[in-house]
Amino acid sequence: MVLLHIEASPKGEYSYSSQIAKSFLAAYKEKNPEHEIRILNVFERDLPSFGETEALAKFAPILGEQRTAEQEAAWDRIKEEIRYFDEADKILLSCPMWNYSIPWRLKQYIDCLVQPIETFGYDFEKMEHVGLLRNRPLQLILTRSSTMAGDYADFQLPYLKYIFGAVGIRDTRAMVASSTTQASKELTQAYLDSFIEEAKLTAGSF
Ligand SMILES: Cc1cc2nc3c(=O)[nH]c(=O)nc-3n(C[C@H](O)[C@H](O)[C@H](O)COP(=O)(O)O)c2cc1C
Repeated sequence: MVLLHIEASPKGEYSYSSQIAKSFLAAYKEKNPEHEIRILNVFERDLPSFGETEALAKFAPILGEQRTAEQEAAWDRIKEEIRYFDEADKILLSCPMWNYSIPWRLKQYIDCLVQPIETFGYDFEKMEHVGLLRNRPLQLILTRSSTMAGDYADFQLPYLKYIFGAVGIRDTRAMVASSTTQASKELTQAYLDSFIEEAKLTAGSF
């Protein structure tokens, strides 16, 4: 059993979302000592850049074209990322809101994972996308300074739910800490502590 923790903050020990996620993982590990926990920080991982070569490689088979050798090599890297992601039986994603959405490196990672034929297909009768990955639990731990969950400008939670659903992962649960910027360090820590407690409880049934 593999739990993959995708960490989307670059702030290391100063990251609120990572702090909450670490408490979640500690509680999870206590309950499931034999499970493997893998950590993938999207800011540290050497992700494919997803530029011209990858964008052309993505559409080549749909357009009935042969990929060039360069595109094939680039696509092998993309498939490596998909394989690693797909090895996970459960996924924990901790992520700060950046400008009402997600940090650019997480978007880069998602741009690697969401691929026709590899992770989603298209149902021409229903005219809709079909996720090709097996469904599995996805726990989101999201942090923001002030943008409330459900705000019309919340492009973080709905986007993450949608995009993982698009590749087949629909068992999504979310914990949202919306007010991480408090008037003092002590108040911020007290605020975080309540989510740390919630994370420990949540981990018990994950
Ligand atoms: C580049 C950047 C953009 C941000 N944009 C928003 C935002 O749109 N709304 C919000 O409420 N907080 C925003 N924040 C604040 C972070 O979401 C907040 O501090 C979060 O708790 C940080 O989580 P972390 O410590 O895990 O990185 C932004 C922070 C940064 C660095």
